Amino acid sequence: MNTSVGFDRRLWPQDIAQSSAHAKMLAAQDIISAEDRDALLRGLEQVKEELEQGSFAFVPEDEDIHMAIERHLTELVGPVGGKLHTARSRNDQVATDLVMYTRECAREAQAGVARLMRALIERAEEHLDWSMPGYTHLQRAQPVYLSHHLLAYFWMLVRDRERFAFAERQCAALPLGAGALAGVNFATDRELVAGELGFARVAPNSIDAVSNRDFALDYLSAASTCATHLSRLGGELVLWSSAEFGFCELPDAWSAGSSIMPQKKNPDAAELLRAKAPRVVSHLVGLHGVMHGLPLTYNKDLQEDKEHLFDAVDTLELALAAAQGMISGASFHRERLAAAAGDELIAATDVADLLVRLGLPFRQAHGVVAGLVRVAVDSGRQLSELTPEELAVQSELFAPGSARDGEAASRGPERANEVKRASESEVKRASEGEVKRASEEYYEVLSRDSWLESKRSLGGSALPRGREQLERARAVLEGPAA
Ligand code: ARG
Repeated sequence: MNTSVGFDRRLWPQDIAQSSAHAKMLAAQDIISAEDRDALLRGLEQVKEELEQGSFAFVPEDEDIHMAIERHLTELVGPVGGKLHTARSRNDQVATDLVMYTRECAREAQAGVARLMRALIERAEEHLDWSMPGYTHLQRAQPVYLSHHLLAYFWMLVRDRERFAFAERQCAALPLGAGALAGVNFATDRELVAGELGFARVAPNSIDAVSNRDFALDYLSAASTCATHLSRLGGELVLWSSAEFGFCELPDAWSAGSSIMPQKKNPDAAELLRAKAPRVVSHLVGLHGVMHGLPLTYNKDLQEDKEHLFDAVDTLELALAAAQGMISGASFHRERLAAAAGDELIAATDVADLLVRLGLPFRQAHGVVAGLVRVAVDSGRQLSELTPEELAVQSELFAPGSARDGEAASRGPERANEVKRASESEVKRASEGEVKRASEEYYEVLSRDSWLESKRSLGGSALPRGREQLERARAVLEGPAA
C-alpha cells in the first residue's frame, strides 16, 4: 500500500533534473566537493539514459521513483550516491517534482487547446455562410450560421487557455530547500536551484512549501472546465452525425463500425468525449478530498495526489486530440443544415419583431405570433401559407387599411423616425409614396435570407458580424497568451 513507484515513475525526468540542480548547488556552496558533484552528475546521466531506454531495472524494494533513482545511482557511483540527499527530504523533493510536472502539463494543455482553437477557426472560415438552426431546449429556435455555432466553442477554449495559464503561474515557486518541513541545517542557495530549474521564485515558507498542492488543484479545475466544454462538443457531434439530424459525417479515424450491424458507423470518440468529462471532474473532487482537513505539513495522504493528476492529464490530452481530429475531419451537409434552418416556424421571432416595429408591445406581438403558429400547425401549413384574412383575425395591424405609414404617423414623429430606421428599403419605398401593408411585410419577413441577416447586433449571427468575429478570433489565437 505504501508503494507508489507503479505510478510515480513518470516523474523521473523531473526527479533527475532537480537532483542534478541540487548536486550543483551543494558543490557551489561547498557542502560537497567538485569531484563528488561530478560523480553524481555522471551517475544521474547514466540513470537517465537507462530510464529513457526502458532498461532501468526496478526492484521490489523501490518504494517510489525517488528511492529507486537514488538506489541505482549508488549502485553506479558507490557511496558518494548517498550524498545526493544532503539538505533535502523526500517531502520537498516530491513537491518539487510534482510542481515541475504540473507546470509542463499546464503548458502542453495551452498548446493543445490552441490547436483545437485553430481547427475551429479554419472550419468556421470554410462554413461562414452555411445556415443551420440554432436551438434552445433542443427545439429549433432561430437560424444561425454554422460558423457562428462553431466559434461558440472557440470562445470557451479561449477561457480554458486562460485558466491553464493561471495554473501555470501557480507553479512558479520552488519548494526544494524546504527540507522535511522546517528548512535545512546547511547554507543552501535556493535561488540558484530556482534559476536552474526555471522557477521565478523560491517558496517563502517551508511549511507551506511541502504541504502545498494548490497548483494541482488549479490544473484539475482548468481541466475539468475544459473537459466539460469538450463533452458538450462531443454531445453535439453525436446528435449531428445521427441519421435524424444528418448534419455531418465524422471522419473514419474517429468513428467505429459495429460488430454486428454492417451498415453502422458509430461516433465512438464523440461519445467518449461526452463521458470523459465527469471522470476529470471526479479527479478534482478526489484531490479536494485528499487535501481537506489535512493537518500541516506532509502526510502520506499526499501520495494520493498523483493518480488524480496523472489520469486527468492523460484524459484531457486524449480528449483534446479527439476533438481536434473530429472537428478537422468532419464533413458537413449543407443541404440538410439549410433544410432544417428553412423551417419557417423558426422565423417566428422575426414576425413578432415586425409587429413590434409597427408599435405593438413585444409581449402582445408574441401572443399574436403564437396564434398564427397554432393556425399554421393545426392546418398543416407553413406560416407563409396563411391568408391575409387569417392574419387579420390574429391582429388588427394586419387588417386592410392599417398601413404602417398611417400607424407610424398616428404615433407621432418620434415613433415615425424609429419605424423609418427599421429598414432602409422601406424608407425608400415610403419616400416614393408607396404605402405598404403590414400583411405584405409579413410575407417578406418569411422569405429566408432576412432571418439571418437581421441579427446584426454586436456578437450576433449576421454575416458582417461573423466576419468581424473571425477576425477577432484570429487575433486572439495569434496574440500573446493570457
Ligand atoms: N512517495 C511519496 C509521495 O508521493 C514521497 C514522499 C515520501 N515522504 C515521506 N515522508 N514518507 O508522497
